[in-house]
Amino acid sequence: MYTAENGKIWLATGGERVYLEPSMANRHGLIAGATGTGKTVTLKVIAESFSEMGVPTFIADVKGDVSGMCLPGSENKHIRRSIDTMGITDFSYTGFPVRFFDVYARLGHPVRTTVSEMGPELLSRLLGLNEIQSGVLRIVFRIADEQGLLLLDLKDLRSLLQFAADNANEYKLRYGNISPASVGAIQRALLTLEDEGGDVFFGEPALEIADWFDWDADGRGVMNILECAELFLHPLLYSTFLLWMLTELYEILPEAGDVEKPKIAFFFDEAHLLFKDAPRALLEKVEQVVRLIRSKGVSVWFITQNPMDIPETVLAQIGNRVQHALRAYTPNEQKAIRAAARSFRVNEAFDTEEALQALATGEALVSVLDEKGVPTVVQRAGILPPRSSMNAVEPAVIGTVTANSPLYDKYGVTVDRESAYEILSAAAEEAAAEAEAERAAKEEEKRLAAEEKQRALEEKQKAAERRQLEAEIRAQEREKAKKKTSSASRKKTSSFEKAANSAMSSIGREVGRQLVRGFFGNLKK
Ligand SMILES: Nc1ncnc2c1ncn2[C@@H]1O[C@H](COP(=O)(O)OP(=O)(O)O)[C@@H](O)[C@H]1O
Ligand SMILES: [Mg+2]
Repeated sequence: MYTAENGKIWLATGGERVYLEPSMANRHGLIAGATGTGKTVTLKVIAESFSEMGVPTFIADVKGDVSGMCLPGSENKHIRRSIDTMGITDFSYTGFPVRFFDVYARLGHPVRTTVSEMGPELLSRLLGLNEIQSGVLRIVFRIADEQGLLLLDLKDLRSLLQFAADNANEYKLRYGNISPASVGAIQRALLTLEDEGGDVFFGEPALEIADWFDWDADGRGVMNILECAELFLHPLLYSTFLLWMLTELYEILPEAGDVEKPKIAFFFDEAHLLFKDAPRALLEKVEQVVRLIRSKGVSVWFITQNPMDIPETVLAQIGNRVQHALRAYTPNEQKAIRAAARSFRVNEAFDTEEALQALATGEALVSVLDEKGVPTVVQRAGILPPRSSMNAVEPAVIGTVTANSPLYDKYGVTVDRESAYEILSAAAEEAAAEAEAERAAKEEEKRLAAEEKQRALEEKQKAAERRQLEAEIRAQEREKAKKKTSSASRKKTSSFEKAANSAMSSIGREVGRQLVRGFFGNLKK
């Protein structure tokens, strides 16, 4: 147990012990340093302590090496030396309660989200849309939301786009222009996204973030590990998905005010991807969510190589810093070192810039917020050894953990609930059936007319009163046929409203209501 009697987390030891103050964990954290300097291990040590305190965590596992946390670690030289020199008295190797998630549904619980839930803002980013195209996407979402149409996957979005384009005139006054050019551009962007494998990411079962909040029999917080090795190959997908999760957390959690310890800790590996090439509007969103989520008791940890990759406005909100070694070969790297050094409160005992370059693996410059929220003077300290395995586990282990997880039944099967695509194509089929009925009615009318003509010819010689009677019958029949035709065409003109109505009635109570979006464009639950 690294949790001290005073409830603090013992994180590192240098000249003195460095404790992380759990009540300040929602002031977020940064773990930075060059590759191989110990960032992931630091993340593990912090996550282990949170788990023991009963705080669930979410961890993006980019390299696969976070997966080892489900198994106890094993003795090695480095760890032995740490135990001996740091004065750790009650060390024991142990595994932690882990749940694996995997967007590609290989070994972990398959997780995805729906197009509706992601919302137009993040989706615009994912599709690389310009202002005008984003505007059209927002309109299309408004249409769907107001009619209670669920967009589950990309094919739903495609069919709704088509629907909106086909009925652009009916929507123009209410929402504005839905230009074919913009719709075309969005359709093309959707194609590209599909080609990149973005379609696996949308659909059901949609991840319910509330499921992250769970504990084992000993009250240890569950570690929710998202396998990101493949997702990470698509940086935009990866960062958007993680950002969506953060905004979802924001939406589902109530205001928490000052907390003794965080409600959940969120570890965002390779966090620089979130900011790379991000448009200004999105940067502002990230900055906002990071700031606002604090009051919900969420502790966000950014893990990145170079702290300069993270924008000033976000860095300014980070209270707890673990800076591993940085290399300084290029002028840019030297600049990064100066910047990193300046972010710390100077410790008279050593030169921050020099120390930054001299740190050994597993060693770091650490500054945390004390219980008053004041950053402590920077310490040069060795991070404690983790108690779970530092290595990646075999795929079979992940498979077993997942099969035994209480979430297995919920996420085990992929489903395709009736959604916009099915509803709109059903409506299209219905319209086609109506057109067919109308055509048949006309045909019948023609046939009747021809028959009548024939009969009329044959009976020409018949009596006048007989002809009179015949004429009456003919008039009646024509009236009937006309009625049939006009009712068919009336149905046809209202097929537009019917699509909406049938959408609502077939989805039923569940989404038979207007959908409402939250602060970040996410769907309100
Ligand atoms: N605190 C530590 N205690 C013991 N060994 C460590 C520690 N930090 C790092 N190491 C060793 O260094 C290796 C690389 O660390 P890692 O965290 O994977 O680096 P990074 O994530 O920065 O690339 C680990 O596999 C482990 O062997
Ligand atoms: Mg790493």
